[in-house]
Amino acid sequence: MKKEMNFNLPSINEARRRTKNSPKIEHQLFDIPVQLRNMGTGRLYYLRTYGCQANQRDSETIAGILELMGYKACDSEEEADVILLNTCAIRKNAEDKVLGEIGNLKKLKRRNPDLIIGVGGCMAQEEAIVKELLCKYPQVDLIFGTHNIANLPRLLANAVFAKEKTVEVFSKEGEIIEDLPSSRFQQHKAWVNIMYGCDKFCSYCIVPYTRGKERSRLIEDILKEVDELIKGGYKEVCLLGQNVNAYGKDLGMEAGFATLLEAVAKTGIARIRFMTSHPWNFDDNTVAICGKYANIMPYIHLPLQSGNDEILRKMNRRYTASEYRTLFDKLKKAIPGCSFTTDIIVGFPNESDEAFEDTLAMVDYCQFDNAFTFIFSPRIGTPAYNMTDSIDAKTKEERLARLNKKVAYYANQANQRFLDQVVEVLVDGYSKKNENVFSGYTKENKLVNFQSENVKPGDIVKVKITAVKSFSLDGKMIEE
Ligand code: 5AD
Ligand code: SF4
Repeated sequence: MKKEMNFNLPSINEARRRTKNSPKIEHQLFDIPVQLRNMGTGRLYYLRTYGCQANQRDSETIAGILELMGYKACDSEEEADVILLNTCAIRKNAEDKVLGEIGNLKKLKRRNPDLIIGVGGCMAQEEAIVKELLCKYPQVDLIFGTHNIANLPRLLANAVFAKEKTVEVFSKEGEIIEDLPSSRFQQHKAWVNIMYGCDKFCSYCIVPYTRGKERSRLIEDILKEVDELIKGGYKEVCLLGQNVNAYGKDLGMEAGFATLLEAVAKTGIARIRFMTSHPWNFDDNTVAICGKYANIMPYIHLPLQSGNDEILRKMNRRYTASEYRTLFDKLKKAIPGCSFTTDIIVGFPNESDEAFEDTLAMVDYCQFDNAFTFIFSPRIGTPAYNMTDSIDAKTKEERLARLNKKVAYYANQANQRFLDQVVEVLVDGYSKKNENVFSGYTKENKLVNFQSENVKPGDIVKVKITAVKSFSLDGKMIEE
C-alpha cells in the first residue's frame, strides 16, 4: 500500500470565487530541476487527450515537458512507463469514457506495478471525481489539475521515486506561466492560447470552475509565438480561448480582441482562425476586422445553445434570440462567403416543446454549415444541476434526433454551394487507404479529400470540387 501524502485536493467553493486581482505573468518561472532532467531517458510515455482544443493545447505542453525530461512518446499503453490521461468534464458521457479507460488500465498496472498512471485536465479539478478516483481507482498514482501542469516534473518525480500517491490540484488559477516547453502535434497548423479561463458562468457549464477566471496573455507574447510559428513553417494559427471576444478585458484593453486580431493579421501568416466566440462580447470592431483581412478565415463558430429567450435567460447566456440573429446577419454581411457552425443544447431543464421549436426555427434561419448538438448533462456544482426538470429522457433523445436531421440537411445544403467551384485547401496529409488522395481544409473549414500526385502536407493548393457529401467535399487538384 502506498503512503498517501502530497495531497492538495480541489474545492468547488474555492473554484467558484472570483477576485479582482490580475494574475502575474511570469516569463522565467518554468524550470526543470537538474536532477530531473534525465529521469525519463530510455522511458516511454503515452498521453491520451479528451475534449476541447484547450486540452489539446495543454497536452502539447505536457508532451513538451515530458520530452525535456527525456521521455519519448509511444503509441500504445502496453509499452508505456507513464500513462497520462488529459480529461474532459463537460458532460457525463465524457467522464464515463475516462473512468472506463482508467478501469481498463488496472490490468496493465497489475502486470507492471512500476507503471505510473496519471490523470490531469478538467476532471482532476472536480472535487467529487477526485474523491471517486481516490476511493475506487487505486491504480491511479498521480492527479494533477489544469493549473498544475508546470509542476509536472516535481509531481511525476514524487510518484516515481517516493512511490507516493500524488495529488496536486489548485482550485485557484495562479500566474500565467510563459515559455513553457511544447511539443506540437501538428506541423502546419498551431493552436495559440490567447487567454485562459471563463467568467461567463453559463448555468449548465463546468468550465468556469475547472479553468478559473478569465486571464489574457500579453499581446507581445502572443505575437512572439506567432512569429516563431511562421519561422517554423506554420501556415495557420487558431487563437484559442473559452471566450476569445473577452480577450484583454482583464488587462484593461478597450476592443482587446479586435486589436489582437488585427495585429496577428499583420504578421502575414497565411491563415488565422479563432475559437470560441461568445455572442455577447462580439463587438463591431471585431466584425469589421474579420471582414478587412484576407488571412482571417471566413469561418465563425458561434454557439447558440438555444433559440428560446426564456431558456437562454435560464442558461445565463446574456443574449436573446433576436440579438443572436442580429449579430449573425452582421457577420454574414461583413464576411462574404463566411461559413458558420454552432453548439446547441437540447433538453435543458423544463425546456418546453415550444422552446425547442424556437431552437429549430433558429436553425432554419441561420442554416448553419454544421452544429455540435448535445443533450443537457447536469454537472455537480453548477446552478443548472439543482434545477427541477420535468422533461423525460426519451423526449430529449427525440428532440436531439429531430435537431440532428435538420442540421445534416443544412450541412449538405451549405456544401452544395462548392460543387464545381475551385477552393483553396491547406493540405493536412495523405489518405491511409490511397496515397494519391490527400485531405485538408478550405478557408471556410470544409474538409476536402482530393486527388493529386504532386503535393505535400503544408502546401496551399487549388482544388476543383467534384462531389459533395454532408460533412466533406471531394475534388481534384488543379495544377497551376
Ligand atoms: N450539458 C450539455 N452540453 C454542454 N455544453 C457545455 N456544458 C454542457 C452541459 N452541461 C456544450 C455547450 C458548449 C459546448 C462546448 O458543450 O454547447 O458550447
Ligand atoms: Fe462554458 Fe459559457 Fe464559458 Fe462557454 S462561455 S466555457 S459555455 S461558461
